[in-house]
Amino acid sequence: MLYLDRNENLFGAAPECLRILRTADAATLGTYSRDFLRGVKSTLSETLAQQLEIPERRILLSYGSEDMLKQTVHCCLSAGDRMLIPQYSWWYYQSVASECGGVTVEYPLERMQQPAPAFLYNAEEIIGAVRNTAPKLLLIASPNNPTGNALSLDGLKKILDKCASTRVVIDEAYFGFNDELFESLPQLTRQFPHLAVLRTFSKLYALAGMRIGYACVGEQYEKLTAYSARYLGYNTLSEQLALAALRSKEYYNEIGKTIANERERFYSFFDATDPCIAYRSVANFILVKIPTEHMAPLSEHLRRAEIAVKFYSEGGLASHIRITIGTPSQNSLLLQALSDFRYRFAAHAATANHQSKLYNLQ
Ligand SMILES: Cc1ncc(COP(=O)(O)O)c(C=O)c1O
Repeated sequence: MLYLDRNENLFGAAPECLRILRTADAATLGTYSRDFLRGVKSTLSETLAQQLEIPERRILLSYGSEDMLKQTVHCCLSAGDRMLIPQYSWWYYQSVASECGGVTVEYPLERMQQPAPAFLYNAEEIIGAVRNTAPKLLLIASPNNPTGNALSLDGLKKILDKCASTRVVIDEAYFGFNDELFESLPQLTRQFPHLAVLRTFSKLYALAGMRIGYACVGEQYEKLTAYSARYLGYNTLSEQLALAALRSKEYYNEIGKTIANERERFYSFFDATDPCIAYRSVANFILVKIPTEHMAPLSEHLRRAEIAVKFYSEGGLASHIRITIGTPSQNSLLLQALSDFRYRFAAHAATANHQSKLYNLQ
């Protein structure tokens, strides 16, 4: 089965990560880290701090960004507090807010058709939503799962300026698949004490199974800093893999570029396949709207081809699928399977055209 349904990075981790895994010794597995003797959490937090140019104490480590998100929400949200989240977003945000009695309120995402189909964050709308709901936390996923759009740097700065008394959490799990924002967001935490940026080694670095995440936080997150402290240190093997990944910058830059090119192949296919709409993305997945009546047959067709993509069946995303961008050869397999199904889309478009012509004649 080819799994293109969970936004994993199918290129695999850098060769140096695999070498470290193969040569791990008993001491690495059997002992606690002693980095705290140097007054830092770990070599990983120290290295990230140097690379991102923020103080080490403002880097918090976690077991995946799922864990960091849970810690952040549990630490900052109390029963009855509101958390603003994007209209279409990762289901986990609601679930984690409800764990501590919090209430999620959605702010809208715009759908554009020109110059190309895309979802958009509207900074003014978000600022308005903050004023209207007075949330404890404003969560922005950039890029957002499943819509694939990112918030512009200007938009984010405007929000941070205007919403200075609200904690703003950016889930940047899918950083690195576009150039624009790669290095810059964590540094904003120096300027904006109410900002936290959450990142993970699961996506760009293809280390999802190792569960490595971190947050870069501004000064207002003192309580979270204490809450997330790990007396016995961080997972040492995960840390070594993460450090190897950070040293393999070229390897991952290449993956980022390849995924950007591969997204274009899918856009070309769907743009030429009326009435499907492929929304532009800066992540390693794309969201595609397909006619509702084709959902079940397409699902069956792909199941027979042994390819899994994510089918949405509820709310505003019913009749959308999300495709994880795999390696070029994996993408070719999916594009071939989609081409084999294309005649059904074509038949649908022909019927729709015919009906609209009849309507115009009436
Ligand atoms: C938007 C978003 N944030 C965070 C995560 C969690 O990633 P992890 O816990 O593997 O770091 C995911 C996982 O798919 C995600 O889609």
